[in-house]
Amino acid sequence: MDLSVRIGTLLLSNPVIAASGTFGYGIEFAHLVDLNSLGGIVVKGLSAKPMEGAPAPRLCETSGGMLNAVGLQNIGVRAFVSEKLPELRKYRTAIVANVFGHSVAEYCDVVQVLEGADGLAAYELNISCPNVDCGGAEFGAEPALAAEVVAAARKASRRPLWVKLAPNADVRAVARAVEAAGADALTVANTYPAMSLDARTGRSRLGRLSGGLSGPAIKPLTLRLVYEVSRAVRIPIIGLGGIQTGEDAVEYLRAGATAIQVGTAHFSDPKASERVVGDLRHHCNDLTYHNISELRSHIE
Ligand SMILES: Cc1cc2nc3c(=O)[nH]c(=O)nc-3n(C[C@H](O)[C@H](O)[C@H](O)COP(=O)(O)O)c2cc1C
Repeated sequence: MDLSVRIGTLLLSNPVIAASGTFGYGIEFAHLVDLNSLGGIVVKGLSAKPMEGAPAPRLCETSGGMLNAVGLQNIGVRAFVSEKLPELRKYRTAIVANVFGHSVAEYCDVVQVLEGADGLAAYELNISCPNVDCGGAEFGAEPALAAEVVAAARKASRRPLWVKLAPNADVRAVARAVEAAGADALTVANTYPAMSLDARTGRSRLGRLSGGLSGPAIKPLTLRLVYEVSRAVRIPIIGLGGIQTGEDAVEYLRAGATAIQVGTAHFSDPKASERVVGDLRHHCNDLTYHNISELRSHIE
């Protein structure tokens, strides 16, 4: 079976992409994972200036998942372009830059720096991070604001623009607004705002009061969002939330996703995304389709 998928003008060798914030800048995993085996890699969120991120502890385990409040720690877009991208672009996988800003102008600044660099396949605008005080999820919560940032980034960019939605907004309204503003694809979705407290002390288990929930616990919730959004827009959807196996990936494709991302699974198995590619190949050999895209929206 042919595993290649098309997201707008972009052709991926297979539909499995490593999710932002769970796979570093990609190259840190090169000694463990065959990066060429992946359909794509979305790098850690990049901001105009380096960000220190949130106070420790930044991660805590929950039943069937994980909370994080990393706060978008990153080296800044310029250091990414000069220090990480030259090594990363040697691989035959689609490199996607995840873009973050505190304001519309800052999103555009990051895109402008990336426009000057070779080797990127697309941008993923993160308008849904729950772990920063200003920017991020603020833009993703309101259709009009989301459309404003997407329209501005569209003007600044010649590359495909994916927009990563928040799961806790009116997701269909935001999806339609960003499609109209020029998004080429939607990434559905980011983590769910959530908290965990120490019952004895009453203290948050994170350095911030709340964080974002990810992992298997969110899979049924986000699967439904993918289904809903895929019926609300015409552009391709990239689904993610709790994917650990090829079967999980197939559920997302059947719900309406064109491609999928693997995130939290990398924390227990750094080779998770490579393994999901192998699982998918295996799973699809038992089916009579010619291309994996034929699975899309196949629900009985
Ligand atoms: C530690 C951590 C850091 C993350 N950092 C980012 C980020 O920088 N940008 C972004 O768009 N999403 C970020 N995410 C969200 C993931 O890319 C993904 O949307 C979410 O975790 C749900 O997928 P999963 O259940 O497979 O992890 C992060 C998630 C985790 C767990």
